[in-house]
Amino acid sequence: MSNSNCAIHVLGLGPVGLATSWDLLNRGLSVFGVDTSRQQLNRILKNDLNIDLSLLSDISSFIEKKKFTLSESLADYSVQNHYYIVCVGTPTNVEGINLDSIKKAIHDIQSHNAVNKHIIIRSTLQPGILNALKPLFKDHTLFSYYPEFLREKDIKDDVLNPPLSIATHLNHISQTSFDKIFPKIESSIDQFTELEALKVLSNAFHALKVSYANEIFRLGEVFNFNSHFVMKAFVSDKKLNISELYLKPGEPFAGHCLEKDLKALETITRHHNLKLPVIASIIQSNDFHKAHLMQKK
Ligand SMILES: NC(=O)c1ccc[n+]([C@@H]2O[C@H](COP(=O)([O-])OP(=O)(O)OC[C@H]3O[C@@H](n4cnc5c(N)ncnc54)[C@H](O)[C@@H]3O)[C@@H](O)[C@H]2O)c1
Repeated sequence: MSNSNCAIHVLGLGPVGLATSWDLLNRGLSVFGVDTSRQQLNRILKNDLNIDLSLLSDISSFIEKKKFTLSESLADYSVQNHYYIVCVGTPTNVEGINLDSIKKAIHDIQSHNAVNKHIIIRSTLQPGILNALKPLFKDHTLFSYYPEFLREKDIKDDVLNPPLSIATHLNHISQTSFDKIFPKIESSIDQFTELEALKVLSNAFHALKVSYANEIFRLGEVFNFNSHFVMKAFVSDKKLNISELYLKPGEPFAGHCLEKDLKALETITRHHNLKLPVIASIIQSNDFHKAHLMQKK
């Protein structure tokens, strides 16, 4: 599609906003990039950012060709439909997440002088936030959540081959409008909390995998085995280890072997004064779950 009858605004030009813009620009669309930080806009103009250099150089050439316009605030464009893709930061605070930037972006969009508005949020949020923010979306606003799953260090590859592309929408009109600029993305209606959970739980799982592999590394140092050899064989098991198995929420693990081997691991690591908190907490987590299910009966 061309955007002769629509304007695409990307709000927040950190790695996610730039990657989103790059994707749209590469597909022949023009983008109006908005970042409230003049410093950030100058960094983009000077190619002075710590992200993939070839992506930055593509961005520069789109700026030169006037396909990508940079501004500190939303400007007026006389077109019929306006997309606002929100990629602002969502840092954590004592209450969980600081929503100031998201709220300001939504406020700026609602005050923008345009008729047909579609807000698409790409920032990472915690479960329940979008439902709580729903009153901020005025009646005539289309709305979608399309979380970003890219890794900063493989930004270009992850935009071209995303690990996960999934979106949810306020209603069918929002879905149809979304498909015009992001075709072929798996979609659903009103599963905001599920997608918020999916994004943060994916990150938690990636962190869990790294921590588990590192506990195996430390175990290898003490018991004198090559952890790289072990993990190479471990990930080659696509039936049980790297598969959908054992990832269904609901039932606790049962059977003799899992508990017996975990207890043995716990004992030998204790004898060697080795700290493996991820492995050491597995039985406790399973016991909590059993007690929780009993309580519900
Ligand atoms: N960086 C990653 O690898 C990554 C990957 C997936 C998801 N995410 C999530 O995507 C979101 C953005 O991440 P990022 O790393 O690009 O953030 P970032 O903090 O690096 O950049 C956000 C940009 O938004 C600008 N901004 C803040 N408020 C604004 C407003 N109201 N209007 C316009 N611009 C505004 C800031 O000046 C900043 O330049 C976060 O929620 C993050 O958790 C990040």
